[in-house]
Amino acid sequence: MKIKVPLKKANRLVNHGPVILVSSFYKGRPNICTVAWNMPVDFDPPKVACVIGDDNYSFECIKNTGEFVINIPGKSLLKKVIQCGSVSGKNIDKFKEFGLTPIAASKVKPPLIKECVAHLECKLLRKDLAVEYNIFLAEILCAWAEKSFFKNNRLLVEKSGAKTIHHLGARFFAFPGNVIEVK
Ligand SMILES: Cc1cc2nc3c(=O)[nH]c(=O)nc-3n(C[C@H](O)[C@H](O)[C@H](O)COP(=O)(O)O)c2cc1C
Repeated sequence: MKIKVPLKKANRLVNHGPVILVSSFYKGRPNICTVAWNMPVDFDPPKVACVIGDDNYSFECIKNTGEFVINIPGKSLLKKVIQCGSVSGKNIDKFKEFGLTPIAASKVKPPLIKECVAHLECKLLRKDLAVEYNIFLAEILCAWAEKSFFKNNRLLVEKSGAKTIHHLGARFFAFPGNVIEVK
């Protein structure tokens, strides 16, 4: 038997994360925004997209600078992920407020968040999509992952330090359990 899911909740059936922390840099200071709605878009050159609502300060930061970093937090950062996703950075420095460490990126001005396990340095490709749909379509200029958590070209999400956070909507989160290789 299948039950009808309310259309307003339909995206909860496909959007299981991983949750990312998007860092930006605007008017001389960095900001962080928690984002569950993100997806890969292309392999070569690699592209990603994420949705950032226009009522978030990060919308303004990224729309005006054209740069952001996708930081991938592990399970141990769950509390900070929720904190970064609960207050605006318009008047506070979330790095200082929530004890996160900015480190210089190589190709863009927004910083990497040191405590995260992986990072994608991104350049906005289409401002018009951001303005019309809040979609930030970007090219990945540089990608980083913690050495001990990236083997055979994949993130070892089954390791406790690298378990990604997957948002199921509302206050529900899931974490990767088993990983299998199908031959
Ligand atoms: C688990 C979680 C997931 C979220 N996902 C998104 C998202 O996909 N897109 C978005 O615009 N905001 C999302 N938010 C809300 C923003 O992170 C939140 O509004 C934040 O305070 C914006 O910060 P800013 O104003 O400094 O940019 C999420 C929040 C949480 C806690």
